[in-house]
Amino acid sequence: MVLKYKFVKPYQKILILTGAGISAESGIPTFRDPGGVWEKYDLNEVATPEGFHKNPKLVHEFYNQRRKELLKVRPNPAHLALAELEKGYSGEVLVVTQNVDDLHERAGSKRVIHIHGELLKVRCELCGRVFQETGEVFPHTPCPTCGRPGGLRPHVVWFGETPFHLEEVYEALLQCDLFVAIGTSGTVYPAAGFVEVARRSGAYCVEINLKPAENAPLFHEHRYGPASQVVPEWVREMLEG
Ligand code: OAD
Repeated sequence: MVLKYKFVKPYQKILILTGAGISAESGIPTFRDPGGVWEKYDLNEVATPEGFHKNPKLVHEFYNQRRKELLKVRPNPAHLALAELEKGYSGEVLVVTQNVDDLHERAGSKRVIHIHGELLKVRCELCGRVFQETGEVFPHTPCPTCGRPGGLRPHVVWFGETPFHLEEVYEALLQCDLFVAIGTSGTVYPAAGFVEVARRSGAYCVEINLKPAENAPLFHEHRYGPASQVVPEWVREMLEG
């Protein structure tokens, strides 16, 4: 079968999917690599609605700790290169991230969609308000808006919940002519399936990772190595045309 790509260089619309691997060299551990988050914590206890209902104290402690660690780290050359690409490229650049950190924004990226939520935001399940939070939250912390205790939860997406902004993301996937996945293991859906949607609609698909992801065969091109080196190299090529 001969695939016909809709792209003609320069690409008009680039969609970049990022995962934990892009923030690893900033000092934020990934989930599934050796020593990763899911080796130290039980995913069912800290990243599901059931776990939260069973032990909200434990879940708040987990996210309080991660929030504290996030405030100590900085964007690395991979985040900075993507911000440069958005600023300097002739076409549109959109970052869709599974990461709950704010390192893309701190690097200067403007068009960022967080499908798994944001660590520095908290939501009140009683009044629905979402607000910025850099400090600690406890099960009985009152909501700053409605004043009621017991309703606050991290504004992150847990297993069994629907990721945020999917309609906008699928629309962008259907329109992009270049799809690049950076530092994601390709194991968590729907994000792991984005490459298939982009590829079927004619986009050229590039994987940037330390080692092949689960869904690696779906990509046309592979670039393996640390994101802090490979991403700036790739961005340089893109900007040189
Ligand atoms: P994973 O921990 O599953 O995968 C991290 C990926 O990054 C792996 O493919 C590594 O090879 C790669 N990697 C590690 N260090 C790297 C480096 N320096 N440079 C480039 N690549 C590197 O993380 P995600 O795929 O992001 O969801 O995980 C997806 C979702 O699973 C997360 O958003 C989170 C998690 O459970 C929720 O909590 C809902």
